[in-house]
Amino acid sequence: MGDELTYDDALAALAWQVELGADEALLDVSVDRFDLPAPKPVAKPAPAPITAAAPVQRAVPDVDAVAIARQLAEGAGSLETLQAAMEGFEHCDLKRGARNFVFCDGHASARVMVVGEAPGRDEDQQGKPFVGRAGQLLDKMFAAIGLDRQVEGADGLYITNMLPWRPPQNRDPKPEEMAMLTPFVRRHIELAEPEIVVLMGNHACAGLLGRRGITRMRGHWEDVLGRPAMPMFHPAYLLRNPAAKRDAWADLLAIKARL
Ligand code: URA
Repeated sequence: MGDELTYDDALAALAWQVELGADEALLDVSVDRFDLPAPKPVAKPAPAPITAAAPVQRAVPDVDAVAIARQLAEGAGSLETLQAAMEGFEHCDLKRGARNFVFCDGHASARVMVVGEAPGRDEDQQGKPFVGRAGQLLDKMFAAIGLDRQVEGADGLYITNMLPWRPPQNRDPKPEEMAMLTPFVRRHIELAEPEIVVLMGNHACAGLLGRRGITRMRGHWEDVLGRPAMPMFHPAYLLRNPAAKRDAWADLLAIKARL
């Protein structure tokens, strides 16, 4: 008998891996989908001979992705239409590299809405914001002041991000990505109508306040679309800098007091 795996052996090996909890197949080397070769150009048919009646060719202007995003966001009259408009938005390259579109988690009836940065690997896989290690810490932080994303209404927590698609290798969002996606986040806040917005980290502050410097800004109430907004250290930062949890606790207490 040769070394080759028989069909039955391969099936048994696969069943064993499924039994162990494997739920997707990965290659030995990860695929950078941003680095894949461009598709081969399709041969164009020969141009038609020019006749006297041939239409004049005009240069196609570059699209203004920010203006398109604003128009789509302003036209959305409900969270469902906003979600659909955002998911169908084709002008952000991040969409091509992401597995899932991540819009929100929790219930929009919550009094507090958290705005984070962008999905990471776990969020990209599950299609929900803040489900990895930082998300687990976020849940514990808000549970400490009686808020829970699983709950509807006053004790709930509604969660979104500045970007709905994971940036490759979790790099920082680019200014042009922030510019074209922020109109959707602003509309998201208007439609969800939270009493308090929590800005998790520098990118949420940059997008919604136009400023960064979370160490100075945290703990001071700001205004986002006419609502009180609290900048806080991002839970991923707190995982790396546990000493900052004391400041985060003070900010959570300020939120609880305001509620
Ligand atoms: N960090 C974020 O800002 N958002 C997520 O959804 C996950 C991690």
